[in-house]
Amino acid sequence: MSIFSGKKIILGVTGSIAAYKAADLASKLTQAGANVDVILTLAAENFVTPLTFQSVTGRRAYTDKDLWGNEAHVLHVGLGKNTNLLLIAPCTADTIAKLAHGIADNLLTVTALAATCPIVVAPAMDGGMFDAPATQENIATLSRRGVTIIGPAEGHLASGLSGKGRLIEPSDILGHTRKALGKNGSLAGKKLVITAGGTQEAIDPVRVITNHSSGKQGYALAQAALDAGAEVCLITTPTGLIPPIGAQVIKVKSAQDMLDAVMNENADALIMAAAAADFRPKYTARDKMKKRDGIPQIELEAAPDILKTVSSSQLSTKRFKVMVGFAAESRDLLDNAAEKLKSKGLDFIAANDISAKDAGFEVETNRVTLLFANGAREILPLMSKAEVAEKIIEHTSKLLE
Ligand code: CTP
Repeated sequence: MSIFSGKKIILGVTGSIAAYKAADLASKLTQAGANVDVILTLAAENFVTPLTFQSVTGRRAYTDKDLWGNEAHVLHVGLGKNTNLLLIAPCTADTIAKLAHGIADNLLTVTALAATCPIVVAPAMDGGMFDAPATQENIATLSRRGVTIIGPAEGHLASGLSGKGRLIEPSDILGHTRKALGKNGSLAGKKLVITAGGTQEAIDPVRVITNHSSGKQGYALAQAALDAGAEVCLITTPTGLIPPIGAQVIKVKSAQDMLDAVMNENADALIMAAAAADFRPKYTARDKMKKRDGIPQIELEAAPDILKTVSSSQLSTKRFKVMVGFAAESRDLLDNAAEKLKSKGLDFIAANDISAKDAGFEVETNRVTLLFANGAREILPLMSKAEVAEKIIEHTSKLLE
């Protein structure tokens, strides 16, 4: 989560029952490496205390008393200085109205009015208030000014009513915060297509041929690309992983589906982290194969090689400026990877030794060597898949400069 490291985030907490969730959010942001300064409105103090936030952030939490205290002359516009992001979660209809109209009658709204950093607002309010024309107009005003509005979600509200108004979950707020922090990164304005997971080739309606790919490296790449400000299209097989917030997700199953999805895209770069099948059943049985019919003989045929297909179509339509692949090898790692780099027309390839226990499929870490089309090589030490992803994104962004 290095995008949060050393970042200064002001977390504004307003008077909603969802204020208790803000403590979890403050904790998550702090654990991710951010320096979190919390400002509570008077109404928020009815639900949670400054001590709650001080305990999870290890930093002082501010209240309206500070607006009139000894440091007021510094604090009233100073808190927003050198800040990377102002996040208001939960944000009531009242605070949204104040922000929209430039009203600055408490420490949080004064700070917001003076702030020059990006602002993210997560509304939370009870039945009817979110849909009220006044709130809708205020939200439209804030959006027009570049404020990012996240949520609210639909569901059970504190009053017992059901509707739109729930604060979105802290883990989702974290994802949106990440996206806002990365907005002006090295890949801002660029689009990346990233594939992930092991493909599934159907034998019959219930059985498939697949592989051990977990999709973790592909998802980590999607997150790293979002952190660098890219627009990300994640083409994924079923993995059980939660896609990073902000990625456009296209779900596929077979290598053919994946090929079709990739060929539908135009982007600055394609990163093929998926373990696409090389072989598939020649015929898929329409009905479930029955035991009573005996052991089936499954004839295989070649599945399409996605990178090779894209690469040969590049001559007529240059869909991707940069193409990156992976080489999963159990022997002759570098020779095999070098051959794939060339035959698949790649700009670089990440070679990983899948026979190692701490690298490759299913585990959290990876040990890769990057081989570039110009002959350069970079041996990376054992790293988390997130760190490997950051390195690959760094090189992709350099190639796109
Ligand atoms: N790949 C692909 N289409 C396939 C199989 C693989 O585009 N049908 C891509 C992978 O996503 C990866 C690269 O090609 O980026 C190399 O994949 P790998 O499985 O290492 O090699 P293969 O080309 O499948 O060759 P082999 O299995 O013989 O090693």
